[in-house]
Amino acid sequence: MNSDNNEIAAAFDGRARGYRDSDWHRASARRLVDLCGLKPGDRVLDAGTGTGFAALHAARQVGDAGHVVGVDVSQGMLSEARAEAAASNLTNVEFVQCDATSVSQFPDATFDVVTAATSLIYIPVRDGLREWHRLLKAGGLIGFSTMAAGFPVAGRLFRECAAEYGVHTEDPCAPLGSAAACLNALAAAGFVGAEVVTEPIRFSVRDIDRAWESNFRSIAHTAVRDLPGPSLVSLQQRYEALIAAEMKAAPERLLQSSMLYAFGRRG
Ligand SMILES: C[S@@+](CC[C@H](N)C(=O)[O-])C[C@H]1O[C@@H](n2cnc3c(N)ncnc32)[C@H](O)[C@@H]1O
Repeated sequence: MNSDNNEIAAAFDGRARGYRDSDWHRASARRLVDLCGLKPGDRVLDAGTGTGFAALHAARQVGDAGHVVGVDVSQGMLSEARAEAAASNLTNVEFVQCDATSVSQFPDATFDVVTAATSLIYIPVRDGLREWHRLLKAGGLIGFSTMAAGFPVAGRLFRECAAEYGVHTEDPCAPLGSAAACLNALAAAGFVGAEVVTEPIRFSVRDIDRAWESNFRSIAHTAVRDLPGPSLVSLQQRYEALIAAEMKAAPERLLQSSMLYAFGRRG
């Protein structure tokens, strides 16, 4: 793995324990799989599988005649995925540590469907989509999900608070965060018949309770972790007070987000 992937793997290793409590990640990954319309017997690759929310849901849908491979750079996330597969007695899914832009152990045209649930913002888009195009059979489906630019609101508030402490970070959802950007990315990688479904996604109160932890540990917010200890404590207090105030004044603003589900086919 290159140094970027090592950094990403370390960040997600740090988030792995407790990640399965992320209700919105679970819900949006399952929604992506449902929109793919899998059939029994399908072979599915889940790129940036994390704790396997999409892969495990797909495994239940493709049945014993099908097979699902989840790939991720984070061994910590994969361990959680394997534990959930074992607890669910699923034997048609495997989890492999590798870079999703170079799944060279599989030949061209191996998979019917490739999914990438909220992972493409961390993966070089062009390299990822080109590799998944190679791995799909003719007519095979790519489906990825990503949040619209500016969402989630809790992430935007985190960056605004960090800026008050002199740390400026970019919105990680901005580059792919519109239907047009998703369609352009799919076309550039050679996919045809592309379409985007835009839907609201709802966070649970538990998701909002985890907002500091998930934003602080996010690879997009690495610079924040260099703040001196007292500033970090102060930033956390400031952020958590802001989130609590928002939850009182305008909970819907925090609890609602906009998801993009993008699809295309290998011609
Ligand atoms: C936000 S999580 C999404 C996980 C899961 N798909 C979900 O819906 O909950 C992003 C995942 O992408 C993985 N990832 C990032 N870059 C990757 C790469 N180049 N190859 C494989 N996995 C990668 C991370 O390790 C992390 O587990």
